[in-house]
Amino acid sequence: MVQAAYHGVQSAPIHMWKWRLYSSARPLPHYSVDTQTIVILDFGSQYTQLIARRIRELNVFSVVLPCTAPLSEIESLHPVGIVLSGGPSSIYDADAPASDPQVLALGVPVLGICYGLHFIVHHLGGKVRSAPRREYGHAEVCVEDGATRLFADLPATLQVWMSHGDEALELPAGFHRTAVTSNALAAIADEQRRIWAVQFHPEVHHTPLGPQLLRNFVFGICAARGDWTPAHFIESTVASIREKVGKDHVICGLSGGVDSSVAAMLVHKAIAGQLTCIFVNNGVLRKNEFQTVQQNLRDKLGPQIVAVNASARFLAQLAGVTDPETKRKRIGAEFIAVFEEEARRIARQTGGVDWLVQGTLYPDVIESSSVKGPSQTIKSHHNVGGLPERMKLKLIEPLRDLFKDEVRRIGRDMGMPEEILSRQPFPGPGLAVRILGEVTPERVALLQEADDIVVSEIRAAGLYTKIWQSFAVLLPVMSVGVMGDQRTYAYTAGVRAVHSEDGMTADWVQLPPEVLQRISNRIVNEVRGINRVVYDITSKPPGTIEWE
Ligand code: XMP
Repeated sequence: MVQAAYHGVQSAPIHMWKWRLYSSARPLPHYSVDTQTIVILDFGSQYTQLIARRIRELNVFSVVLPCTAPLSEIESLHPVGIVLSGGPSSIYDADAPASDPQVLALGVPVLGICYGLHFIVHHLGGKVRSAPRREYGHAEVCVEDGATRLFADLPATLQVWMSHGDEALELPAGFHRTAVTSNALAAIADEQRRIWAVQFHPEVHHTPLGPQLLRNFVFGICAARGDWTPAHFIESTVASIREKVGKDHVICGLSGGVDSSVAAMLVHKAIAGQLTCIFVNNGVLRKNEFQTVQQNLRDKLGPQIVAVNASARFLAQLAGVTDPETKRKRIGAEFIAVFEEEARRIARQTGGVDWLVQGTLYPDVIESSSVKGPSQTIKSHHNVGGLPERMKLKLIEPLRDLFKDEVRRIGRDMGMPEEILSRQPFPGPGLAVRILGEVTPERVALLQEADDIVVSEIRAAGLYTKIWQSFAVLLPVMSVGVMGDQRTYAYTAGVRAVHSEDGMTADWVQLPPEVLQRISNRIVNEVRGINRVVYDITSKPPGTIEWE
């Protein structure tokens, strides 16, 4: 048993709901020494994550490091290739981001993209200047005769996406031009030094043949194997968890969402009997969610789940509270209290708990370590803020190298139900931030019914997986209606559906009128206590996705 095991430490309550998952540690691949890696050095481009995704789509692992990462850190990953990303700066800016120029002398193939090209030219003795004409948007590139392997199997002219103000004026010795646009240089290479660079962005959608160019770099030039598949990831992650955990006991807070469920399944696969998941009913879950999560996970897949119905405790904490932040704090504090009680009980039964599983994803990790510095985003995945430090638990974060869609692929490969994998995000404070004003058991029951109608109609229309979030909100606004010959005086339901990439910005969805009509009819007819339905047509910004 490791010394730091949790045996029931008490300390001051932590009032923390929205909390940072970000770790200061660099996102190093943790699972296998023989994983081939392409290192992407981030000079601050908005597209850096896309480069990583495009390479991973080729079944080759790629990792983003800040451009300032020490050479030793880059070398420790034994990369088979290095990509220098684009970035918003000019190479001559006083605070222009820079890597150790030695990355260009490692003998590992390098691909510079946009600013990456300027960096290469500037540091190897060429000249970069501010271009007389900025190029931004679509452009046509002509590949020169006898161009390099980077353009293998590509046509002589390519549609590409350009976004730059600087351009290379003089090339360093050994380099030659391999492609041009009508007014600028588009690609260069020095095969001897194994350095290639493009002025355009092959990683973006607007460069339709970009994937082939990246494929040429990854396979043709770096000779990667392309064996980073879900099966490989699962096998190596499971082996590494097994080795790390030994005979210790592990707990995991389940929310019913994709990340915590897939993380729990990986740990379950590794050390089944030593994992206990804790799933808390906080009284503000969606209709039937407390049961379906248990059925989908424990009953179908087998991990041990302690399901704690603490509804009454949470609803008591929420009585009389109308301020949204107070609701969050009360729910957060109560969650920690319940979770700790359960953890303490499990610790007594098992002789101590040492590890906590968290579903931290890769974007959370990169945002904190990129050249842009920690993002202003506050992620609030699981409701266990502060627990690891407080309970002296060590963290297992099996998904910290993965993007969300990769997490889904891994889940699919482990045979997890689509109902879990395609679930829309649901906030930790649940329906409490969708009931405006005071949360009462009656209001929760009303909203559960209305929300269930919204979700089932959106599903029936085949839209559920195409929409980021779709749900109902309960407005404690009474209005007059008429049903049959009866006058009604009841609450209002708001319907919200948004498209979003990451929850940071969002557009309201133009739901088909017939879907809105069915939702409205059903809510008013089936939910006694709601007699009016409105549709929220506010995007974010200026609105937020949740109403509170
Ligand atoms: P907003 O309302 O800020 O939401 O536009 C952005 C995304 O975050 C979710 N959200 C939360 N998630 N705890 C959570 O776990 C919270 O307190 C919380 N507030 C908002 C929201 O559902 C959306 O996906």
